Amino acid sequence: MTDINQQNFIYDDFDALGKGVAGLISQWAAQAVSRSGQFHLVLSGGSTPADTYRNLAQNHDQPDWAKTHVWFSDERCAPPDDPASNFRMASETLLNHIDIPPQHIHRVHCEHTPQQAANEYDETLRRHAAPGELAPRFDLVLLGIGDDGHTASLFPDTAILAVDDRAAAPVYVEKLESWRVSLTYPVLNAARRVLFLVAGEKKAGIVSELMRGDSAPTYPASRIRPQSGELIWCMDKAAAKRLPEDVPRLRR
Ligand code: 6PG
Repeated sequence: MTDINQQNFIYDDFDALGKGVAGLISQWAAQAVSRSGQFHLVLSGGSTPADTYRNLAQNHDQPDWAKTHVWFSDERCAPPDDPASNFRMASETLLNHIDIPPQHIHRVHCEHTPQQAANEYDETLRRHAAPGELAPRFDLVLLGIGDDGHTASLFPDTAILAVDDRAAAPVYVEKLESWRVSLTYPVLNAARRVLFLVAGEKKAGIVSELMRGDSAPTYPASRIRPQSGELIWCMDKAAAKRLPEDVPRLRR
C-alpha cells in the first residue's frame, strides 16, 4: 500500500479536541484563501463535530466566510429541520452563527428522493469543479468514524463503495433501514487535507484496527487515502487509548 502523508494528533480530552480542531480549521482556512482566494470546507455529520463547530463559530480568528464554501460529507435522507439532519446540526452549532453568504452553503436537498437529492448535489459539485473534474478540490474534509469502520455514509458492503464516476451518490444502509447521500471516494481522496475527528473510548477499538496499517482489515475508512494531500487524525486520549505502540503521535 503506497505511503501517504499522515499525522496523528492526540488531545487531552474532548474539550481540548474541539478547541484544537477549530483552531486548525481557522489556520488552514487562512492558508487556503491566501493560496487560491477561497476555502472549500466539507463538514462531517454525526455528533462528534458539534463541539468543534461551536468553537469555530466563537473563534477569535474566523475563516473569511465570504470566501468559504461549505459542503457536507453526507446527509441523512430527512428534511433539513429533522433532528437527524446533519445540515440542522451544522446550522445550530455553526452556520446560524457566522456571516456566510447563503449561496456558499451547499446542503443536500434531502426533502427530495435520495436519487434526486444525490443528482442535484452531484450537479452542484460539478458546477464548482475545474473543467473535467467531479467536484472542487476540497481544501479540508472533516470525517468521523463509525465503530463498523464507516466514514461519511460509506458503509461496509454497500454499492457506493464502488462508485468512481460521481461526486455524490445515494446509498441505502440496511442496518439503519434508511437512505443517505454521501460524497464518494474519488472526491474525498482528491482533497488537499482530510481530517478524521474521533473521540471517546467507544472508538478506541476501531481506531486501533485502522491504525494497524497494512495488516488492518479493510474498512471503508481505510480506503480514505488522499493521493496528493494530507491525512490528519485528531483524537482525544480516550479514542487513542489502544493506539498501537509503533504509531507516531503528537500530543497537542
Ligand atoms: C453521519 C456521519 C457519520 C459519522 C460517524 C460518527 O452522518 O452520521 O457522517 O459518518 O461521522 O457515524 O458519528 P458520531 O460522531 O456520532 O460518533
